[in-house]
Amino acid sequence: MDEDLFESYVMIDGRKFINGHRATYPFPSDEIEANRLNNRHFRIRWIWKENFAAPIKEKLIAGKMTALDIGCGTGAWIVDMAKEYQKSSFVGVDLMSLFPSTEQTHENALFLQMNVLDRLPFDDDSFDFVHQRDLTHAYTETQWQNIVIPEIARVTKSGMYCEFYEESDKWEDQDNDLLIWVNLAVSHIMATRGVNSSIATRIEAFLKESGQFTDINVLIERMPVGSYAGRIAELTLENTLNELTGLKPILKAPLGEITDQEFDNMIEEIRKECDEYKTWIYARKI
Ligand SMILES: C[S@@+](CC[C@H](N)C(=O)[O-])C[C@H]1O[C@@H](n2cnc3c(N)ncnc32)[C@H](O)[C@@H]1O
Repeated sequence: MDEDLFESYVMIDGRKFINGHRATYPFPSDEIEANRLNNRHFRIRWIWKENFAAPIKEKLIAGKMTALDIGCGTGAWIVDMAKEYQKSSFVGVDLMSLFPSTEQTHENALFLQMNVLDRLPFDDDSFDFVHQRDLTHAYTETQWQNIVIPEIARVTKSGMYCEFYEESDKWEDQDNDLLIWVNLAVSHIMATRGVNSSIATRIEAFLKESGQFTDINVLIERMPVGSYAGRIAELTLENTLNELTGLKPILKAPLGEITDQEFDNMIEEIRKECDEYKTWIYARKI
């Protein structure tokens, strides 16, 4: 294992980023980001009313399941699931070590730090359920097709389930000039790393093309972003703004080396725009 992969970090504009790894992931790895991911987890669970859509609840309760969460971040999904379904077991893997401490972790939860692109260190047919949420910016399209999806198919038991959750950055039909512009900048930067920021709309096709999955279902939720639509939509807005702020170091150059003050002003303008234009985003579960 490449020891440097996990221990090398770089501080940019007061934020901590994992450095020198072979993954494309652009977001920070620090306490601010951990808070963003945790808040986001509870918002998503509230919107979807459940931590999964696959028909696995009875088996989870009966304790017959072993589940894997790929790119688990702070482990919020794992901790929630492990607490609710104490007879089943859960494994979370992630490049960063934002995992909860042992005291905060349930006995039926395990966390491992690794790069998924090195392939999963599990035997074939190890898991009854494989979950992956919000990895849009983590892999190139080729990696999705040649590594991630084949690995998920390999470690998932035949006849069992996997589930993806991604939010789409498509802004057609919307008038948020500034937010659209900033998102285009993000998409452009990610494209230079080989990443398609609209991958949410491609996962279904990847699964079909792989020929390894059957009964593929897609659920789409239109989620309002802004204080115009209540508390949850307001939290979705805060998350969107925090996400952009996390990308500030990579965004500053393409935006013409703007100052911190100008960047913060831009974030405030986006906040106003979201209310003015009643913004929304699409979330997909596949
Ligand atoms: C936006 S976060 C989502 C975290 C979690 N799934 C959630 O929904 O709260 C994406 C996570 O993917 C992880 N990640 C990115 N590339 C990865 C890779 N190649 N291998 C493992 N984890 C990766 C990041 O470290 C980060 O924690």
